[in-house]
Amino acid sequence: MGSGIAQKIATEGIPVILVDLDDEKVQRGLGIIRKTLEEGVERRIFRAAQVEEILGRIRGTADWSTLEEADLVIEAVFEDLKVKQDVFRRLGEVCRPEAILGTNTSSFYVRDLAAVTPHPERVVGLHYFYHPAKNRLVEVVAHDGTSDEAFQAAWAFQEMIGKTPIRSADAPGFVVNRYFVPWLNEAVRLLEEGVADIPTIEAAAKEAFRIGMGPFELMNVTGVPIALHAATTLGRELGAFYEPAEALRRQVEAGKPWSLEGEADASRFQGVSDRLLGVVFYVAARLVEEGVATVEDTDIGARVGLRWAHGPFELINTTGVRRSAELAGSVVTPYGLEVPPLLTRADERVGIPIRLVTVGQRGRLTSVWIQRPDAMNALNPAVARQLQDALQAARSRGGPGIVLGGSGKAFVAGADIKFFVDHLKAGTFEEIQRFTEEGQEILRGLSGQEPPVVARVQGLALGGGAELALACDWIAASPKACFGFPETGIGIYPGLGGTQRLPRRIGLPLAKYLIYTGQVLGAEEARALGLVDALVPFAGLDEACEELAGRGPAPERRAPEAPGDAAWQPLWDFFARWSVDQILAGEADTGGDSRLEKAVQKMRGRSAFALRLAEKLLERSAELPLEAGLQEELAHLREVFAFPDALEGLSSVLERRRPVFATDAPSGA
Ligand SMILES: NC(=O)c1ccc[n+]([C@@H]2O[C@H](COP(=O)([O-])OP(=O)(O)OC[C@H]3O[C@@H](n4cnc5c(N)ncnc54)[C@H](O)[C@@H]3O)[C@@H](O)[C@H]2O)c1
Repeated sequence: MGSGIAQKIATEGIPVILVDLDDEKVQRGLGIIRKTLEEGVERRIFRAAQVEEILGRIRGTADWSTLEEADLVIEAVFEDLKVKQDVFRRLGEVCRPEAILGTNTSSFYVRDLAAVTPHPERVVGLHYFYHPAKNRLVEVVAHDGTSDEAFQAAWAFQEMIGKTPIRSADAPGFVVNRYFVPWLNEAVRLLEEGVADIPTIEAAAKEAFRIGMGPFELMNVTGVPIALHAATTLGRELGAFYEPAEALRRQVEAGKPWSLEGEADASRFQGVSDRLLGVVFYVAARLVEEGVATVEDTDIGARVGLRWAHGPFELINTTGVRRSAELAGSVVTPYGLEVPPLLTRADERVGIPIRLVTVGQRGRLTSVWIQRPDAMNALNPAVARQLQDALQAARSRGGPGIVLGGSGKAFVAGADIKFFVDHLKAGTFEEIQRFTEEGQEILRGLSGQEPPVVARVQGLALGGGAELALACDWIAASPKACFGFPETGIGIYPGLGGTQRLPRRIGLPLAKYLIYTGQVLGAEEARALGLVDALVPFAGLDEACEELAGRGPAPERRAPEAPGDAAWQPLWDFFARWSVDQILAGEADTGGDSRLEKAVQKMRGRSAFALRLAEKLLERSAELPLEAGLQEELAHLREVFAFPDALEGLSSVLERRRPVFATDAPSGA
């Protein structure tokens, strides 16, 4: 785990010191990292040169005094309380008092490690999942004495290295293992009771949870003794329901993996999945009631950490709360446990509310946060509705400003493509129209009034995400931010104000360039062209948002008359001069400029119909006030979605293939 964590941090450009007991063990750790990175080169995740670069950031040593420089220490030694406490005692001696000390423990209380250090308020749990360079989930654990400041810093660091953090209280199994380990254990109980054999349990679990490996195969891969150890710890802390099944003990004593051989018996699937679901439903509801984690983080943990298609609460809602309560009851009643009120008291029609957008505090600003990190915060009607409510709640708080952000690696990577495809196929275009109208309405409320709204863009802002950022008063970006308008490549045009607000930010010719080609702008380019108002290192992003909010609501934006950066003049001139039809017909003179040729090439692969409509709307941005321009975008929506290129382009994304657009698209758009 330690080498994997070091690898991930170094990959993100941050220097790491890797400390182990002696030089041989240090070399072993470095060797593991090299091997994993080289596998990454074979799989084309890294270039060969990157391997040396990444390794160059890792200093391996057995000398603890080097830790004196560290801002953050992540302990990942053997799971033995005495060994870990010794490590924390020593860390307390060598580290600077302001350093944050994290532990990757799976089964001990963070407070028991904090207690042996001189600054328990600087100690947090940082529970990563195997393989820590590949699995994005990390549980950030505050014990009762952890300071807010240390927690926030530890959390921000996880975001900085592209992790998806969820918050956990200092409780047995934290969030994910609390239900995942009983889920494994229940599979063994089903076997032991003769409800089903292993192949049947595997197949039933894969179907019910939509996963690639069932519980027995997972235990074989991660180690059957680890499952026993984890269940033993949970049982000790939480009682008989969590205690390991006898057959699990026997399997570990036999020292063998589970045999997965045999045919599954589909007639027993229901009985198996009911039990596995019942366990998850009970534990998830309990842990939320105990305040260990939120409903949302519990679900994110399952989707990101375990790669389940749906989290426990999404499963509860699709199963129905009443039925879920029954399933939970039949599993736990024999242990003298009661079904959590969260399940028994929930309204059957509403289910358990899952917040996709939350309102909170980030420094001095009110935060409005989109939390669908595993779906790159894509916009759909449910997100839009909650965003609307969250913004209203944030506005009513007053204060110096609102910061709009997204959790995980993306700001907002666009709109939910499946939503569009489903409605086009069902012939319910009105739903698309309504979603777009409501979306425009939300975006309209993002600027020009107190308190100002700042978009905090730390990653991808594509399509609807870029339009969302553009609609805010100000945009603060970190170096990994990028902006793009892929719509014409999937048969549609930006319908949430992109054709009107982008030209007002960067000028009509460059807006045409971006919307016609789908070219993605990096953070530095976006700053040079005036698309973002502040570009700062990730660590300074929150401060930059506060500074921008301090400027108040943005004044109405006027399209610039020249590119923000002279290097863009040729692109500006080209798109100022030539129309979509002239470009597609090969009449536009590129003068052999390779960037222009590339742009033309890109346009040829896109929907001509969508390009022409986009052109028309972009041109109107120069003639109409913003509001009238936005109405024009809505007015052409049916036209663009009714043309076959839309369904073809949108479906191609879901089917992961290149779209084939109409070549004789009517030009009278
Ligand atoms: N393996 C997993 O899937 C997993 C998942 C999440 C968390 N964890 C937790 O991560 C921690 C490490 O687990 P692992 O599986 O990587 O164990 P491991 O045995 O593979 O590695 C432990 C490393 O710690 C080193 N070490 C031991 N004592 C040390 C000391 N005093 N000073 C410096 N280094 C020392 C060892 O030499 C070894 O390199 C445990 O707390 C475990 O519960 C493991």
